[in-house]
Amino acid sequence: MSLMTRSSMTKSRSRSMSSLPGNEKTGNNSRLFAIGDLHLSFSNLIDKPMDVFGAAWHDHTARLEAAWREDVAPGDTVIVLGDISWALKTEDAMPDLEWIHALPGRKILLRGNHDLWWHGITNLNTLWPGEMIFLQNNCVMLDRPAAARATVASVDIGIAEGVPSLPAGEGSSCIAVCGSRGWGLPGLEDYGKDDEKILARELIRIRMSFEAATLAGADAIVCALHFPPAIGPAFESSFTELIESWPTPVTQVVYGHLHTPSAFRKGLQGEHGSVRYSLASADYLGFKPLRIL
Ligand SMILES: [Fe+2]
Repeated sequence: MSLMTRSSMTKSRSRSMSSLPGNEKTGNNSRLFAIGDLHLSFSNLIDKPMDVFGAAWHDHTARLEAAWREDVAPGDTVIVLGDISWALKTEDAMPDLEWIHALPGRKILLRGNHDLWWHGITNLNTLWPGEMIFLQNNCVMLDRPAAARATVASVDIGIAEGVPSLPAGEGSSCIAVCGSRGWGLPGLEDYGKDDEKILARELIRIRMSFEAATLAGADAIVCALHFPPAIGPAFESSFTELIESWPTPVTQVVYGHLHTPSAFRKGLQGEHGSVRYSLASADYLGFKPLRIL
């Protein structure tokens, strides 16, 4: 899918939201979970045992499957926060994608830095329509649980310059799942000019995803990223600036990518203003999906 421009988004607004790829609805009582960095390699052509990264990864797929099946119901949605498969080609990632598909719940998948098999977003979204949604430059609309509805409805959002507002209507009581891969942040070792360009492009992708949510009439956003949006000691970045200033309130940010206890401590977590940030890499969670709504 090519990058959507504001004019192409305006045109798409005249279409039914349910006809847009990735804009689909779930039932009222569904719950939302997140987990990232599954690092699967079920293909016989790929030899990437995760045990080499320490005892925490021993038998990780069996532990993940058991926890997933225990916690997630068929009507729930799970956001898979990237670093899904070690495959280099989409065909070699199929055993991993089929394994995820067989687990309970609808899945929303993001690309991580290791997902080199992720090509052709349109084709990916034809594999399991509505059941496995590959998120890129769009959003997924969720019906909002009643408890969250009361909380967010009290927020006075305002509309930023240049962002079209919609009258209340279809989809106006919905949460949107938005997001993108993100990228390493300035200040990291080896951060260079190329990183600057990729980071700028990721900001555009996140903005486009937010715009899709605002145009769809969402009144709250859950933002899913692969990379942490900010790391210590500053705990702020161009990502947090965008997230915390977007006119449709971003109530939660979930991300993965960080491994090992020393890395876990670097990620932005907890309440910052009106946003809750949560690290949800699989090893941080003990391979148990994190319920976020
Ligand atoms: Fe990663």
